[in-house]
Amino acid sequence: MSTQTLLLFSLVLFSFLCKSLCASNDSISASTSYILNCGISKDGLEDADTRKWNPDTKYLVSSDDSISAKAEFQDPSLPSTVPYMTARIFTSKSTYIFKVSSKQRHWIRLHFYPSSYSSLNISDAYFGVIANGITALHNFSASITAQALTQAYILREFSLSSSPNGRVNITFLPCPFHNGSYAFINGIEIIEMPDLFSTAMMVGFSDQSVDLGGSAFQTMFRVNVGGQYISPTQDSGLSRTWYDDSPYVFGAGVGVVGDADKGFILRYTTDTPEYVAPADVYTTFRSMGPDPKVNSNYNLTWVFQVDANFTYIVRLHFCELVWTKVNQRVFDIYVNNQTAETAADVIVMAGSPGLPVYQDYAVYVEDGPGDETIWVALHPSVSAEPEVYDAFLNGLEIFKMSDTAENLAGPNPVPSPLMLEAEQEPTQEFAPSKSNNKAQVIGGAAGGAAAFGLMAVICIAVYHRKRRELGIDSSTTGWLPLYGNSQSTNKSTISGKSTASSHLSSMAASLCRHFSLAEIKHGTKHFDESHVIGVGGFGKVYKGVVDGGTKVAIKRANPSSEQGLHEFQTEIEMLSKLRHRHLVSLIGYCEEDNEMILVYDYMAHGTLREHLYKGHKTNLSWKQRLEICIGAARGLHYLHTGAKYTIIHRDVKTTNILLDEKWVAKVSDFGLSKTGPNLNQTHVSTVVKGSFGYLDPEYFRRQQLTEKSDVYSFGVVLFEALCARPALNPSLPKEQVSLADWALHCQKKGFLEDIVDPHIKEQINPDCLKKFAETAEKCLSDHGIERPSMGDVLWNLEFALQLQENPDGVKMEDIDVMRTHTSSHSDGHEANMGIHGSNLSIGGDSEENEESSSVIFSQLVHPKGR
Ligand SMILES: *[C@@H]1O[C@H](CO)[C@@H](O)[C@H](O)[C@H]1NC(C)=O
Ligand SMILES: *[C@@H]1O[C@H](CO)[C@@H](O)[C@H](O)[C@H]1NC(C)=O
Repeated sequence: MSTQTLLLFSLVLFSFLCKSLCASNDSISASTSYILNCGISKDGLEDADTRKWNPDTKYLVSSDDSISAKAEFQDPSLPSTVPYMTARIFTSKSTYIFKVSSKQRHWIRLHFYPSSYSSLNISDAYFGVIANGITALHNFSASITAQALTQAYILREFSLSSSPNGRVNITFLPCPFHNGSYAFINGIEIIEMPDLFSTAMMVGFSDQSVDLGGSAFQTMFRVNVGGQYISPTQDSGLSRTWYDDSPYVFGAGVGVVGDADKGFILRYTTDTPEYVAPADVYTTFRSMGPDPKVNSNYNLTWVFQVDANFTYIVRLHFCELVWTKVNQRVFDIYVNNQTAETAADVIVMAGSPGLPVYQDYAVYVEDGPGDETIWVALHPSVSAEPEVYDAFLNGLEIFKMSDTAENLAGPNPVPSPLMLEAEQEPTQEFAPSKSNNKAQVIGGAAGGAAAFGLMAVICIAVYHRKRRELGIDSSTTGWLPLYGNSQSTNKSTISGKSTASSHLSSMAASLCRHFSLAEIKHGTKHFDESHVIGVGGFGKVYKGVVDGGTKVAIKRANPSSEQGLHEFQTEIEMLSKLRHRHLVSLIGYCEEDNEMILVYDYMAHGTLREHLYKGHKTNLSWKQRLEICIGAARGLHYLHTGAKYTIIHRDVKTTNILLDEKWVAKVSDFGLSKTGPNLNQTHVSTVVKGSFGYLDPEYFRRQQLTEKSDVYSFGVVLFEALCARPALNPSLPKEQVSLADWALHCQKKGFLEDIVDPHIKEQINPDCLKKFAETAEKCLSDHGIERPSMGDVLWNLEFALQLQENPDGVKMEDIDVMRTHTSSHSDGHEANMGIHGSNLSIGGDSEENEESSSVIFSQLVHPKGR
């Protein structure tokens, strides 16, 4: 080794040693990220997301007037005890100082859990926070804010521009105007970030842009459009939280959500590097839907509540995952009624299909009655004459920009007076005042998990009693998403009090259980985002626990789904009577505080799709797939014929076939699709119904829905189970994009074997395959009349199973017996359908029926010709 190399080597070693020494030395820490659990002395406690949090003491300049405290009560909706259950409390001005790299921007995240600490009344906590000269919060009341947002804790995120002196100072100032005021903080994060802010186009002023470089920002909203919650550890390195966008979608025009195909790998670019947003944001989207007529008559709109007198940066994230050429999908972007962009073509913006890109728009929000909102609306660009009339979005962020006075603080939100009253009662009950023995006993025991459970129950009980005593009308609280209230909440407020059971027939009430909102909240940890297992047009679906251990799926109505109280009750009435081994059953419901919630059986194995290709959870054997198809066919057959009315599912697909812990297939989502009883009523769902790739072509042509549309969709499901690929896969060559078309083509040309899932190819008996494929093919017949009934499909699938299990032993007599058996079902089916013209049936092809159905289905989908 030469001396030079040796020298170099020792230098490297030295700097390495120095670095590790420095890292352990508190005062000159080399690390520029801090994740602090305030008011605690233990190192490295992990939160539920396994992020490590450290003590805050050593960064406090003077801690004479600060105390550490523990929260007396653990709200069940807290995501984790760290950092929320401990706090630092300041009775006078106090400052933290952090050493940071001087050239970088930093996120500052402040976590607040307004609860009772050390005999202090949380409603006395009014304070300001100043970070490097920027007023982040002013006269802030965490408890009022939490009440208004119906959240247990508050997270505020700010982005500070570079700190030339290499420090971030954060000062807490108890508000001098309130007696006994104090400040508190539960968690602080200082995270170094790349420069995410350069320039934004000023909406309404063509060619004017705003320089963002030197400004500070507050994150107001960050949503993964058409996708799911993304936790800080799932973010692309900047520990941001992304929420689902559905609470912010305005009105009934919610469009459709979609995602990239399995195997799609997002390529980041120099203009849009990975830290801009994680791949989950760019690979899921919400689009207007496939019907150009519908699309040209509405705007896909999101609404967000903000503070007046600030400029906001609206950042839109796009990635074209469906179309591949310029001028295929082009749309206009409006922000607050002004044109932000005409003829936006994402492929042009990104330079290529499938590439991520984002755009920043600046808009000033003035003060005025009802003006404190930001609307983002998308509409197909008619003037650009694109190939499809559609628009879409993948992600959206809204940042508030610091004003000329270096201020970012807005006023505290105003909770409705009734909410204040209701919320404060139970807290008083448990305030740790010395005169209240009960509270002390419970407060003291709150450390133990068991005691906590007991406490939550008692607390809920007291809460209820209090509410009843106060005679509070529960129509005041609404759907309040995480950062703020959305406009759509106000629109769909449902009048009337919430004693649902009295409106329901005794029949439904006896078949179906009534849950209190408290039970539901307890079972879902206050609808915690981590419990979300699905999102649909109706709202979110949460995994939950009731009755101390029964797992359930909880569907919570999104007020923007505009599902009225009456419809909700009809749904319960109808669903409570539908019981079948192959239908997901409704266990109960909850209707309180304007909430409309349905409680279903929990399906341990999730959807059929995720076991076929999406996620590849399991490799289902051919026999398992066949049995699942048979189970689903039975469920659909029952829907079509077994109930009093013909019930058409309208959205048969592999994600609506669920599997329980024993792999028994259950059809789900049937009740909320439109059905029999009140068809001639005017309030029909205007939401585009049905899923691309599964839609019956006749359904578009005649705008008329029959149960044969379900048969068509089920045919697609059968091919999906056989070939293990999605119904639509735009990344394939054109002729293969639609599974229905491609499988029919292969079947007709006699090379269907070639597209069978390789995992099961060896297992399939050739006769079984033949029968199965013929059945699926018939389901996909162009005309409904040529398609078999669900009863016939069921029979054929069972026959296919016989051929698979016992290829030589299937005797003609067996088949005949089976045949007779099912055709008697079919007869019953015909009889059921014989009520054409009456408003009790939507089945059948009669002319009389056409009119009433076409009213309902006129909004339905017409993708570009098949
Ligand atoms: C916004 O600014 C106007 C004019 O300066 C002022 O009258 C109004 O109170 C401000 N609104 C808020 C919410 O600060
Ligand atoms: C969509 O929004 C823009 C801007 O607010 C408005 O001018 C237009 O009329 C809207 N279109 C529809 C169909 O609502």
